Order: sequence, then C-alpha cells, then structure tokens
Amino acid sequence: MNDVSARFQWWERPDLNYENGKLKFAGHAVSELVRRHGTPSFFYNASRVTANIKRLHQALEGAGFADRFRILYAMKANRFAPLLTYLKTSGLVGIDACSPNEVEHAISCGFRPEDISFTNTSLSREDLGRLTQWDGMSMNCDSIHAIQKWGELGQGRDIGIRINPAVGIGREGNDKLQYSGALTSKFGIYREQLADAMAMARRYQLRITKIHFHTGCGYLTPQLESWENIIRTCLWFVDQIETVETVNVGGGLGVPHVAGDAPLDLSRWAAILKEHFLARPVKIEIEPGDYIAKDAGILCLTVNAIEKKQNTMFVGVNAGFAIALEPAVYGLPFQPVPALLRQGRHQIVSIAGHINEALDIFYHDIELPPLQEDDCLVLINAGAYSSSMASNHCMRGQFKEFLLV
Ligand SMILES: Cc1ncc(COP(=O)(O)O)c(C=O)c1O
Repeated sequence: MNDVSARFQWWERPDLNYENGKLKFAGHAVSELVRRHGTPSFFYNASRVTANIKRLHQALEGAGFADRFRILYAMKANRFAPLLTYLKTSGLVGIDACSPNEVEHAISCGFRPEDISFTNTSLSREDLGRLTQWDGMSMNCDSIHAIQKWGELGQGRDIGIRINPAVGIGREGNDKLQYSGALTSKFGIYREQLADAMAMARRYQLRITKIHFHTGCGYLTPQLESWENIIRTCLWFVDQIETVETVNVGGGLGVPHVAGDAPLDLSRWAAILKEHFLARPVKIEIEPGDYIAKDAGILCLTVNAIEKKQNTMFVGVNAGFAIALEPAVYGLPFQPVPALLRQGRHQIVSIAGHINEALDIFYHDIELPPLQEDDCLVLINAGAYSSSMASNHCMRGQFKEFLLV
C-alpha cells in the first residue's frame, strides 16, 4: 500500500495540518493539547470560526447587500458558552435560537434579545409564555397554531412566519438532512395554508414582517441549482404579503466531509440571492450553524483496542455516538486523523466507538497510517452537532471542551 503520510491530505489547511509528522491545530501540537487535557476532548479554533463568518460577510457584501443583511449563528450547532461569548464580542453575528433555554443561554453569554431570532416547532403554552419576556427578540411562527397562541399572548406585534416551500435541499444523496420536499414535513406553513395563516395573524393584529425558511442541511456547490429553485418557490410567499421587510433564508450551507467534496462556492451562492432579492426592498438573514462551527472543531480520542474480526480491522476508541452522533444518525462520516504519523504500512481500518450499538462506527474502511493502542486519534469536523447533541447513552456522555483563542 502507498505511503500517504507525506502527501497533502484533502482536509489540510493552514490551521490544521501535519508538520514533521505531528498534527497541528490552531497553532498547537494536538499531542500536546491531549497530554495536558486528556481525551475525549473537543477543541475549537476561534480564528477559524471568525474566518468562516467573515467569508459569509464578504460574499453578501460582494453581492451588494451592504448593510441589508444579518448573520444569525444557529447555536444549536454548538452552544459552548465561551464560544458564544466570543461570538458576541466579535460583533459579527446574532443568534438563531430554537428553545426558550437556548434564548436564556444566549442572553447569559452576552447577547441581547434584539440580537436573537427564534424559530421552533411544537411549542407549548409554557414555552411561548417564557418567550414573551424577551422584548425585541424576533419570533418566527412555524404553524397557524403558533400564530394563534402567540397572538393570544399579546396582540399587535410584528412576527415572522416559517414557510414550507415543499422543495428542499441537503447534502447530496442524504434525505435525512432534508427538511422539506416530496415527503410532508412538520416544518413551516405550506402554500395552501398561507391564506389561513394570514387570517390568523390579522385576527390578533400581528404584522407579518418576515418570511423564514430552512429547507435542509449540508448542501454544497452541486446543490446550488436546487437552492435557486427553493428561492424561486419562496418568492411566491413573499409576494403574497406586502408587509414583509425581511427574508430569512435559513442555514444549511455545508462543509466538505470526505475527499472529493469541494468547498461551497459562496460567490455563486450569494449571486443567487442577489439575482432574486437585491432589487426588492427586503433585508436578508441567514442562520448557518455548520458553516460557522463545524470545521472549526476537532474531537480528540484515544485508541483503546485494535483487532481484526473476519476481514475488518477495527480500531476501537474511547468515545462513541453519545458525543459525536453525525455518522450514526445522518450517515455523515468523520474523517479520522492520527495525531502522530507513525512510519510503516498503511492499513484499511474501521473506526469503532465504545457504545453498545451496531451503528456506533465513526468510519467504515479507511486507509490510515499505522496506529497503536493509546495513540491519539482525531475526528475533524467535530465543531457542530457533536457536543451540542451529546447524550449519556450507556453513561458514556463525558467530554471536555476548550476554546483556543
Ligand atoms: C431553523 C433552522 N435554522 C438553521 C439551522 C442551522 O442549520 P445548519 O447548521 O445546517 O446551517 C437549522 C438546523 O437544523 C434549523 O433547523
């Protein structure tokens, strides 16, 4: 088998690369971070987070939106308090929150209610009651029921409505990441419900000033045609409501996960927004989570056991889908990367977690340099939807988190 250790890997970039066989991340040798802090540990690179956000700013400014846009970080992706406070201090983003607890957490990290946009489904009376205390927060109702309940709690306010265009987007070939489309989904108000939704808003003198949609996650450049189709479909909704001042086009912008994925072409993405929105008197909001946080985080693990079973060489590590569930739930692989490159023959291995479930495999059949028990193995792209979705399944939910600034 070829020695790939000396070759440039698809995921390498200036803040994440090998130097003399040692993995460096955010200016640190990963082996040193792990020696100090142990595993399993998540490390987040603050500068990478900022760079990701600035790229979005540049794309929207380049498309002519100047000060007519707002970037809301979807905190469900990663709510680590030091990261949120860092983001608040940067002044570059507001927050997309999806539960009353998330709103309170964002506030505790320094965000003001007016920095926050709220979108969620299946809200209880208690949820809505808690949300009414945050004057200035922007509320997106995702059903006629939510409009009614919100109206009952206070008439005469501005609201957004989440719509469902019945077309969706997501990482190529991954239906689990699509939020609207051929199958009826729980999200948003469908075209045939719009008249009733508008009537419900009128009943409580709620002014619909925002149209919101989020139609899927993980899309890259090959999906931009679908992206344009979604925008076209959503314009019908915008045209029905003359009080609309803002269009929130959701998140969903993806990052490369495997060799062969190219980064999302942001200038093409922004050009589609320009084509359909620039001439209209509306502001644009986006609410990405993945794009901001995912590739800014790594998860450092320890190799517990290596054993060949039939034709598969399993490398067992000291964490599982309880703290990093995207491979198990969404079928999104995490590229494993050894912290130290050993010389020797490369092998095809499968990286297995320590949860008693068959689906707890981080990666099937990947070629890696030699590994030994107690080595540090790193999963890249662990900055979003890993720690934030952790459970305590099998009582294996423990991890540490560090923001590298
Ligand atoms: C309403 C809404 N907005 C934004 C996001 C963020 O999506 P992503 O992290 O893919 O950008 C999500 C993710 O589930 C969502 O449901």
